[in-house]
Formats: sequence, C-alpha cells, structure tokens
Amino acid sequence: MLSLYTIFTSTIIMTQKDLKEQAKKVLNANFNEDKGFTIPCEGLYPFQWNWDSGFIAIGYAHYDVNKAKREIEALLSAQWENGFLPHIVFHNDSDTYFPGADFHQSSLHPLASKTHKTTGMTQPPVLGFVLKEIYDIVEDKADMISFIKHNIDKVFHNHAHFYTHRDPNKEGLVYIYHNWESGTDNSPIWDDIWDTFTPPNYTFERMDTTHVDAAQRPTNREYDYYLNLIEIAKEYNYDDAKITELSPFLVQDPLFNAILIKSNAALIELYEIIGDSKEKIDILKAWQEKAITRFNEKLYNEKLGGYVHYDLRNEKQIEFLSSSSFTPLFAQIPDNARAERLMKNLTNKFKGNDKFLCSSFDPDSDRFNPKKYWRGPIWINLNWLLYKGLNNYKYKNLAETVKEDSITLIKRYGFYEYFDARKSITENAGYGGNNFSWSAALLLDLLKD
Ligand code: SER
Repeated sequence: MLSLYTIFTSTIIMTQKDLKEQAKKVLNANFNEDKGFTIPCEGLYPFQWNWDSGFIAIGYAHYDVNKAKREIEALLSAQWENGFLPHIVFHNDSDTYFPGADFHQSSLHPLASKTHKTTGMTQPPVLGFVLKEIYDIVEDKADMISFIKHNIDKVFHNHAHFYTHRDPNKEGLVYIYHNWESGTDNSPIWDDIWDTFTPPNYTFERMDTTHVDAAQRPTNREYDYYLNLIEIAKEYNYDDAKITELSPFLVQDPLFNAILIKSNAALIELYEIIGDSKEKIDILKAWQEKAITRFNEKLYNEKLGGYVHYDLRNEKQIEFLSSSSFTPLFAQIPDNARAERLMKNLTNKFKGNDKFLCSSFDPDSDRFNPKKYWRGPIWINLNWLLYKGLNNYKYKNLAETVKEDSITLIKRYGFYEYFDARKSITENAGYGGNNFSWSAALLLDLLKD
C-alpha cells in the first residue's frame, strides 16, 4: 500500500515534471530553427536579445545541448570587430517591435558587424558565466570544452572592449550609456538621470503597448529619453570616446559590473581547464583585483546597507536599493559583514511578512510600483542570480525562499515576464509578455535538483 508520504511526494514530482515539460514547450516554441536563436517572447520581443540568450542557453543545457550551443553562436555571430556584443541582433525582420534595426543603424560604427544588423548598445555580459554554468550542467565535458575552446576568446575580447572603452578612470568599473544596457530598463533609478536633461518630444509609434497593457510599460515621455540617448550616440557614430565625453547618461551599474566580474571569474576557471592560457588568466586576474576593490569602495552605500548605482556623469551615488543592490553576492564581491547586511535588507525590507522575493525596487519607496516594468515587480532572472548569490554565502534558507517563490509564481500564474510581489493579490499577477523564454529556461535550472 502506498504511504501518504509517497502519494504526497509523487504528486509533487508529477507537478514538477509537468512544469518542466511546459517550460520546454515555451522554449521550443520560441526557438527559430532556421537562424538558431530564441526570441524572449512572441510579438513583444521578436529578435535575439543578448542577456536573454545567455539565460535561455542555461535552460537548453538541461535537455538539448545543441540548442544551447546554437543560441550562443547566434549571438556571437553578430559580435563587432572591436569585441562589442550588441543588445539586440536583428536576425530577421519584424514589424511588431519599435525601435527596430532602421532606427538603431549600427552600420554607423565602422567596426560594427558586417553580416548582421544590431543595436549600438549592449547588455549585462552574461556569456562568461553562462559558458561555465553550461559546462557544469552537461555530461559530455569533453564535447563542451571543445565548444568553449572555440568561443571563449570572443568573450574575452568582449571583456577587453569594456575595460578599454568603458572605463575612463581605469578603475575597473565600466559604465553603461543607456538604461536598456542595464537590463533593468525602466527602473526608478533612472528618474534621477532624467532630471538632468530634456529630450525633444519625438513622434513615434509604440509597438510594446499593442502587446501589453500600457499600465505595465514605460510612458511615452520615458521613451523620449530612451530615443534621445540613442540619437546622441548615433550622432557620433556610436564612438565610445565621444559617448564617454558627451552622453548625459553615464552610469556604473552594480548589476552590470557584478555580472562582468562573475564572468571574468568564470573565464579564469575555463581557461584553467583548457590549459596553456597563462597570459589571458593573468590579465583577467588583474582586472578582477582592481574591479572588486573599487566596486566595494565606490558602489557600497553604508547608510542603505547595499550596493547602489553611481552616476559617473554627475559624480554621485544614486541612493536607492533595488534588486541590483544584492547581485554582488552572485560574484562574491562583499565580505561576510556586508553580505549579512544585504541579507537583512532582503529579509526585512524586500520580503517582510507579505511579499514574495524579490521586488525589483525598494518596496518602501514612493517610486515603487508593483505592476510596472522594472519599477517593482519580480523578475525570474534576478531571482536566479540572488538564489546563486545567497548560496555563495551561508544563507541557504533565504536562497531556498527565493527559489520556492520563483517556482510558486510560475506555477500559479504562468511563464510571465514579471510578477507582482504582493502575496495578497487574488487576480492574475503575472505581467508583461507571456510564454517568456528566460522564465522557462531558469525554471528548468531551478528545478534541476
Ligand atoms: N527590453 C527593451 C524594450 O522594452 C529593450 O531592450 O524594448
């Protein structure tokens, strides 16, 4: 006779199996077999996005290694000659997205990809740590290391580009020049930067609000800022030196830099496995030492007890906590005392008694909005980074809460782009795009045990 325990656990296992199958269906449906890449979701995001692809490849590594490899190769195939990796690769045409390839005009830069239309901005450099994650997941290590051997120098070249062109003080911290480079596109953090310049009122046709409720997306005025930053960069043919000198948006972002540092660390480990790479390892180690020291000096805010963004144009910290504030845990940047403060803030402020982890912005702030794009809701990729980060320290219980909250939200609402953190919500609390690829991919990774 089956014990109650067996029935109970087999129900959970069944449910998880179903969930995994659903996740694979989402990914497979979003995969473009012809070009070998995955859209983040239909309609809203119809091209290949840089950091999306990295997270997506981790999901594929659990059941279709070939797709994981194709995803990464498709992104790298659009790398610029100077090592730059763009945030969108326009492998295909689509009229469901604005601003498209014709607006971005990457060919203005003399070293832009000659084979692919792309944007002239980037996104958090996930590929380094993604290669290491995939190596750890797959069984056939020899096959994967030969794939990595073939591609790792391209990622190294990308990091070298950042330290050469995006670090004007040569302090080991790189800047972003557009909010879309942060990945946390519409965070209230940027409101402070928007106060420092006035873009024109552009005439344009939004496409995102034809797919998603406008209440969950940025305003038209916010789009004026986004477009203006691109126009300024285009005016100088996406020249890094000119952008450094003239862009009104120049920010050292803790999430972006933590990801770069984690990817550096992964490249060191992978080059050590490959062997015969001493010169590159030495360079990477020198970057790491400088970057981690400066990160702790410049991006930590003692009063808030967390890492914050630094406005390099106006030389000041932007003093707000967001989910990005905790991502240095992922790259083991804080010492144990700082990690403890981060953990307490996550527990007391972001979780409290009534919230799923982890809101993308400080829930106690006036700027918090539980439904709007990056201004409060939970994102599964940030949760995945926090889950890994908390496990790097001794916070196993809180890590499990982040993981369980992520699984619960997807189970309850579906594979949405973002979720309401309030546990009290009774209606649908999944927002943005549905059948969203990285929510599916990272769920597969979270369910692996
Ligand atoms: N995700 C951005 C958008 O909303 C661009 O990267 O269009």
